[in-house]
Amino acid sequence: MARARRLKRPAPLARIRACAYAPDMTAPAHDRLLIIDFGSQVTQLIARRLRELNVYCEIHPFNRVDDAFLDAFAPKAVILSGGPASVIDEGSPRPPERVFSLGVPVLGICYGQQAMMQMLGGRVERGQGTAEFGRAYVERRGALDLLDGWFEAGREQVWMSHGDHVAEIAPGFEVYGASPNAPFAIVADPARRFYAVQFHPEVHHTPMGGRLYANFVRLAGFTGDWTMAAYREQAVEAIRAQVGEERVLCGLSGGVDSSVAAVLIHEAIGDRLTCVFVDTGLMREGEAEQVVSMFRDHYNIPLIHADEGPRFLSALKGVTDPETKRKTIGRLFIDVFDHHAKAAGGARFLAQGTLYPDVIESVSFSGGPSVTIKSHHNVGGLPEKMDMKLVEPLRELFKDEVRALGRELGLPESFVGRHPFPGPGLAIRCPGEVTEEKLAILRRADAVFIDQVRRHGLYDEIWQAFVALLPVRTVGVMGDGRTYDYACALRAVTSVDGMTADYYPFSHDFLGETATRIINEVTGINRVTYDITSKPPGTIEWE
Ligand code: XMP
Repeated sequence: MARARRLKRPAPLARIRACAYAPDMTAPAHDRLLIIDFGSQVTQLIARRLRELNVYCEIHPFNRVDDAFLDAFAPKAVILSGGPASVIDEGSPRPPERVFSLGVPVLGICYGQQAMMQMLGGRVERGQGTAEFGRAYVERRGALDLLDGWFEAGREQVWMSHGDHVAEIAPGFEVYGASPNAPFAIVADPARRFYAVQFHPEVHHTPMGGRLYANFVRLAGFTGDWTMAAYREQAVEAIRAQVGEERVLCGLSGGVDSSVAAVLIHEAIGDRLTCVFVDTGLMREGEAEQVVSMFRDHYNIPLIHADEGPRFLSALKGVTDPETKRKTIGRLFIDVFDHHAKAAGGARFLAQGTLYPDVIESVSFSGGPSVTIKSHHNVGGLPEKMDMKLVEPLRELFKDEVRALGRELGLPESFVGRHPFPGPGLAIRCPGEVTEEKLAILRRADAVFIDQVRRHGLYDEIWQAFVALLPVRTVGVMGDGRTYDYACALRAVTSVDGMTADYYPFSHDFLGETATRIINEVTGINRVTYDITSKPPGTIEWE
């Protein structure tokens, strides 16, 4: 599918290590499905659909999948993703031929369909008036196990995104569905269990596409063994096997990922886990207290609470440039963490809450380095400096799976469902210089906004909601007096993974009520705005 240039997050060290393109053989033994990625923007959605079906899958870029890889991975089924290239062009990507002699079901999607057809003896042409982008309707032609429970009314809405099209199908295949511009929208060779579709069943705009994946994994014999309860048991065993009798150190950020990782590791090795919570003084209202009380009192996990607010604030004095802010915080964080870690003594392992989307490397066709939009802060730089090995028990999970695991481990709902919070904290929600006074105002306003969102039952619909305190004072009138106070911006977005986002469509009543509450309850703010920028072109955070 056509795609815009991907804006990749800069890779923390752990991510580079994780992308060493061996199949993850440390992963517990599940039935495994391999997704070969040709660079589609929506490949991750294929994995999401499959994980929802309790099927374990991994995405690997086409140029890293060779025969040896296939043998080591031993997939029970293979999916070939979409992608921006044209199979007609010389040197365009292909899966290894061996994919088709493994004896397992193969599903080709969009570019994957075209590559499959061409490799198996069909023909693909460049679109002459047959390109299709967007909604289309496919008519069913004949019965096919892959389409069970679908096409009940004869035709279904799908989402197309193709310039080239299949002009001649490969020997052994039959047509099972067609749209006006895609006569080979669904083709299959049921005897060999090879299936190929021109459209994208993984996207929201193919409303019944989930059926196709459910049928595909059923035909492949998956038993749906990927559940969080099973994962918990296996992960605990894997942590014990990796760590042996050694000690583990875990940096807690207050976020869901590091918290779930800590509780899981604690279940595996008990008090040989020590957590370090670096309180940068840039946390939200009540956050530090919540983290400390949950880990110390509720879980009884040894916790070092490094109260370092003054140190961070003095390092940030006079700093206004967003990148300098991020780098200052990142550097200081590492120093502080390192200091307390040494004091904790003797840990040879460092735990990180790395998630699967951080491990998947996107396919780059430009070959050039990606643009650094923001220097993300996390503890990825620590292991090299501290000479520790990594324990990453969440690196096969998506965010919502981490939440499910957190629930499985008994973490309170109020904690598990929390919105993401960036490592540099409120500093990057306070454009301009960060001061104690501004942080106090921002904390209060943020608490009121989140309270509003919760009261209206919207918290779980929103990926992230917060307030940014703007570096501008405006004139207002309250009672009979003039005010000259800060303006703030409310930000609330929906998103699947934080890579793209849409602003949340609050009602005007909600916005009006929230503005009134903030101005009444927060001294120092006399004007409230709502940020309606999507990402791209904006980013979620303001800096
Ligand atoms: P942006 O602002 O880049 O944010 O659209 C995307 C998502 O990432 C979070 N974010 C961070 N998370 N360290 C983190 O751990 C960081 O330095 C950082 N910067 C942004 C942001 O809150 C959003 O969820």
